[in-house]
Amino acid sequence: MKNILTGIRPTGNLHLGHYFGAVSNWIKLQDDYNSYIEIADVQALTDNFNDPDKVRKNVRELTIDLLSCGIDPKKVTIFIQSMIPEIAEVTIYFSNLVTISRLYRNPTIKTEISQKKELFGHSGESVTYGFLGYPVSQAADITVFDGQLVPVGEDQLPLLEQCREIVRKFNTIYGETFVEPEQMLTENKRIKGLDGNEKMGKSLGNAIYLIDDYETISKKIMSAVTDPNKIKKDDKANPDVCMVYYYHKLVNQDNLETVCQECKNGSRGCVACKKELINKMMEFLKPIQEKRKYYEENMDVVDNILKEGTLKAQKYAKNKMKLVRENMKIDYFE
Ligand code: TRP
Ligand code: SF4
Repeated sequence: MKNILTGIRPTGNLHLGHYFGAVSNWIKLQDDYNSYIEIADVQALTDNFNDPDKVRKNVRELTIDLLSCGIDPKKVTIFIQSMIPEIAEVTIYFSNLVTISRLYRNPTIKTEISQKKELFGHSGESVTYGFLGYPVSQAADITVFDGQLVPVGEDQLPLLEQCREIVRKFNTIYGETFVEPEQMLTENKRIKGLDGNEKMGKSLGNAIYLIDDYETISKKIMSAVTDPNKIKKDDKANPDVCMVYYYHKLVNQDNLETVCQECKNGSRGCVACKKELINKMMEFLKPIQEKRKYYEENMDVVDNILKEGTLKAQKYAKNKMKLVRENMKIDYFE
């Protein structure tokens, strides 16, 4: 079985974008691969170094979210990045193989620096060494676990390409040590926000969270963007430009044809349509929220899953490190 490794930053709860864009895919893959999911707290700290409480709290929150969605800890190794010192070690060795200008040219990094003006200055003049270098650390995340496949969204592809470059260089200099990972693009690449924005995101304020309750969901869906040309209840409209319809497609497959036809022929009002979506959304979230409740009441179960996953990952990394040290000729007293 091939090794799959993916990571996620513990900076907040999961929303539908995460679910349909990533997690649902990981669940499908968990039977057929050796799957590792890294809770990337070290990476989260690169741009949240001044908020350690937030990162710490979200390590558990995120784990509960993942388990509630159906990630099976018997099949998937969930581990905490900062507990694997080998990742930090390999990051240092990898950093010799990457130029600073190459990091600045990485499109993902470029975009993120320009989005974080508060932290990194208007033209990125205050960007830290740690943040600039996180692609190097991500390359270590993947390769320490021999990740052959990395299921990620499009925005992560430049990071994977950078990882592949590092691996090629490393193997050329020190001999065959690491596997060059391949991307595995997720089916639903990106989920749009309630406002019609191309991306659903916390900072954009347009997300539905898996933990949202009925009231919150109602408020959000009631203010979602519909076809602007539909003014009266019985106006004919175009569902393809309506965000409510877009979400019907995700959680109301069974009744989709009807929603579409009634919207087009004017027999469906937007308020009723939104109410139907609210109910379907709650139905979709119900099993996830019930599982969350179980885990919240049984925190020891969550902590054990994290602990066991991390122990397993530690063993793997420790073993891998032997080969790295040997090939780099730094295996002094062995
Ligand atoms: N950079 C990824 C994100 O922001 C998270 C991540 C950390 C990751 N380590 C990884 C993804 C390794 C894939 C592989 O979503
Ligand atoms: Fe959107 Fe439904 Fe209104 Fe059509 S009827 S525009 S699908 S909310």
